[in-house]
Amino acid sequence: MPSTALACSDPIPRPSWEPVHDGARVVELGTGTGALALCAAARGADVTAVDVAWPAVLAARLNGWLHRTPLRVLHGDFASRTEGQRFDPVLANPPYAPSPDSRLPASGARPAWDAGSDGRAVIDRICDMAPVLLYTGGVLLLVHSGMCRAQETLERLTRAGLTARVAERVLVPWGSVLRSRRQWLQPQGLAAAGDEQEELVITGRSSGPSPSTDRHVAAGQASRAAIGLHTASPLCRYSVV
Ligand SMILES: C[S@@+](CC[C@H](N)C(=O)[O-])C[C@H]1O[C@@H](n2cnc3c(N)ncnc32)[C@H](O)[C@@H]1O
Repeated sequence: MPSTALACSDPIPRPSWEPVHDGARVVELGTGTGALALCAAARGADVTAVDVAWPAVLAARLNGWLHRTPLRVLHGDFASRTEGQRFDPVLANPPYAPSPDSRLPASGARPAWDAGSDGRAVIDRICDMAPVLLYTGGVLLLVHSGMCRAQETLERLTRAGLTARVAERVLVPWGSVLRSRRQWLQPQGLAAAGDEQEELVITGRSSGPSPSTDRHVAAGQASRAAIGLHTASPLCRYSVV
């Protein structure tokens, strides 16, 4: 039986987990294996995890069961499955690989990484709905490749009413998807010849004071700390973690 701690010991530096604490009401949008959701649950958070892919949902549920860690894993699009609910923090490592096919894939493995020709199809939706997903003062921990333009994410989050900044940056080697698209990425201006690493970036925080009258107050306070989120890979595997 794997231990929950294993799920959190990733070779890539994991985030400062300050906003994820005992009693926090966390959602992970696009949970994949559920690894991040498990880390949050292991810290005592009340975790909802959503994924549009059944294999991911089943893997996350299995991982929750293997780690004896309670996770609420929902199947479907993150917007519809979280409608009318608020969380803090919101975690997301969405699909963000730029693709020669501008249409979003509906089946197979590609929805896990393909996100339109600029890689922003899912990122933009998350930025736009962050204000209705977050408690006042809540934190969005959103990770994506610098290839998708961090500045655009910051501006979009700001337009949505959040205080946004890049909290952390980390260089990771290109995975197989980006390597296979080198000939397409270069003429798009998304990569330079010889690029072999991409930068992962981001976070955002909703404006206004933290709520002082409910159990989420601690999450709001923690959000003032420097935060960031990294993930194992821009791709995810539906594996046991
Ligand atoms: C890059 S993977 C990240 C998986 C995991 N969070 C991690 O960090 O390893 C993106 C995940 O988002 C899911 N996804 C893509 N579009 C989605 C949507 N509209 N609603 C919910 N999940 C979605 C994919 O199925 C995939 O599991």
